[in-house]
Amino acid sequence: MRTKLIAGNWKMNLSKAESVTLASEVLHKVPKSAKAQVLLIPAFIHIDAVAQVISKSQLLLGAQDVYFEKSGAFTGEVSTEMLLELGVSHVLVGHSERRHVIHETDAVLNRKLIAATSEKLVGIYCVGETLQERNSGKAAEVILHQLKTGLANLSHDVIAMGHLVIAYEPVWAIGTGQTATPDHAQETHAFIRARLAELLSPELADRIRIQYGGSVKKANAAELLAKPDIDGLLVGGASLIVDEFVGIIQAAEKS
Ligand code: PGA
Repeated sequence: MRTKLIAGNWKMNLSKAESVTLASEVLHKVPKSAKAQVLLIPAFIHIDAVAQVISKSQLLLGAQDVYFEKSGAFTGEVSTEMLLELGVSHVLVGHSERRHVIHETDAVLNRKLIAATSEKLVGIYCVGETLQERNSGKAAEVILHQLKTGLANLSHDVIAMGHLVIAYEPVWAIGTGQTATPDHAQETHAFIRARLAELLSPELADRIRIQYGGSVKKANAAELLAKPDIDGLLVGGASLIVDEFVGIIQAAEKS
């Protein structure tokens, strides 16, 4: 059984005070007995403030990015050790905004994923095709390339320990209000799991959680989570609205 993982990616939104308020509202509305894992991913500079609110709770803390070097002259970057010190357990790698807006390369993303997972963080590796790639029939090819390059040389031991999560986020569905249909998402998740079985092993592929992301809201969460290969959701816009995010968590509890 793969435990469902519901993550709120707050991106470059919310002030410090708003981050603290949202974290405490989520904390008070999520039952302590929740069987799904709930992960909050604030902006770097608000991680510490959110950590104070959710420490000693079952809520998990994530970062939106990480650098692959341990320390040194890397102006503006943040290391795995710095994140671990604040209580961060999960980190996003290869979010489409990092790929397409910040132009991070496959090689950089691979180094980040290796650095994060080998330092005891759970790496959430995001994959997904653009609208143009989808329309030209290249979605499968693009996703396979992202999996191959991102997971190259990743230790099977750390994967077996649960340190790798995949997030399928079709770029055309992020922030657009256009969600993949549950059937389309399931088909792609099954494709990803089959490729993971080939690239890693069937046993590891069976254990790796694959989240869906892209315009998830409480109204569509349940039908996505009902699919056998959808093991959680990576939520952007709706994670900033407490009623929406808590509704998504409740859908996971019922799934
Ligand atoms: P969205 O973002 O839910 O606002 O579409 C998802 C994401 O980018 O992780």
